[in-house]
Amino acid sequence: MAIKLSAPAAGVLPAAFARGISMPSNTASAAPAAAAPTTIGQRDYAATPSQTVAFVGLGVMGIAMAGHLARAGHTVRVYNRTRAKAEAWAAEFGGRVAATPAEAARGAAIVFSCVGNDQDLESVVLGDSGIFAGMSPGALLVDHTTASAEIARRLGEIARQRGLDFLDAPVSGGQAGAVNGQLTVMVGGSAEAFAKAQPVAMAFSKAFTHIGAQGSGQLAKMVNQLCIAGLLQGLAEALAFGEKAGLDLPLVLDVIGKGAAQSWQMDNRGKTMVADQFNFGFAVDWMRKDLGLCLDEARRNGAKLPVAALVDQFYADVQAMGGGRWDTSSLIRRLK
Ligand SMILES: NC(=O)c1ccc[n+]([C@@H]2O[C@H](COP(=O)([O-])OP(=O)(O)OC[C@H]3O[C@@H](n4cnc5c(N)ncnc54)[C@H](OP(=O)(O)O)[C@@H]3O)[C@@H](O)[C@H]2O)c1
Repeated sequence: MAIKLSAPAAGVLPAAFARGISMPSNTASAAPAAAAPTTIGQRDYAATPSQTVAFVGLGVMGIAMAGHLARAGHTVRVYNRTRAKAEAWAAEFGGRVAATPAEAARGAAIVFSCVGNDQDLESVVLGDSGIFAGMSPGALLVDHTTASAEIARRLGEIARQRGLDFLDAPVSGGQAGAVNGQLTVMVGGSAEAFAKAQPVAMAFSKAFTHIGAQGSGQLAKMVNQLCIAGLLQGLAEALAFGEKAGLDLPLVLDVIGKGAAQSWQMDNRGKTMVADQFNFGFAVDWMRKDLGLCLDEARRNGAKLPVAALVDQFYADVQAMGGGRWDTSSLIRRLK
């Protein structure tokens, strides 16, 4: 089926999505100030047999991802800790609201989850009312939380013991990617589980790529975050330098953006950094959580991450300036 939605142009966030992220770094996430979505972006969906699926965690990312699953023709059961958000989602997309993660998972061929961190993930997956308790033998959990590789392997092992399957599948592309169904997804787990998930998950993905065994999706996401952290600090220093030198920075960005210094961050964040605007998605609090995961993993595997360790401390400075919810390009604020 190829379904078109009436929604804003790609890249534009509906107002209800343009809100901050409420999770303090390295702690369990607090409930964000709920705002019901009004719509998701328009896209076409490839023809795929309709399935009964569940989605647990209707935050900034999950609410739109679950919306795309429903719009692609799947029967979607949702669970969210703050029930009002699940009810608002169901009112728009027509799915059923479950009282617990287990109830959402019951009878679903694939369960998707997207919560904050390792602790949140444990609390929705394990226990009597958790996802695993509700899943039928042979069912698959695809987790989109950015979490540790360790918990991915642990949940993978528990799933195996219960006759279930598990994929770690963290995403990149931010809120705009979720709203427009254009996420890049890095997947760890068996080839068989990947083949089952991929056609369904393409409803909210532009790329859904098998990286390797359980945990390797999370490790690939760490590589992604390490690339971004160092680059953003370089960009912040360069722009702060250019400002002190009295240059016309938008003009300089136009020129150097056509040469070897070009990057996605320069193209998309350069001018907003110069304009002192930091309300563009991925928050400093989230980045500190992700760099914490990278630094923990590096302690285990012996990798040296001197720049990431330093940039993590710079982000701590930004948090201390009250910028936990500013976007990650706000590193430049420390340099002004
Ligand atoms: N936002 C981005 O741009 C972005 C980009 C890439 C990756 N990610 C990753 O995607 C994940 C989700 O991000 P988000 O922006 O969607 O976060 P968010 O808006 O804070 O949503 C978090 C979701 O998890 C639920 N949750 C948290 N702790 C829970 C618990 N203990 N029990 C049950 N439910 C719990 C929340 O429920 P309530 O509604 O009740 O609070 C909410 O549905 C994170 O791992 C983040 O790093 C985010």
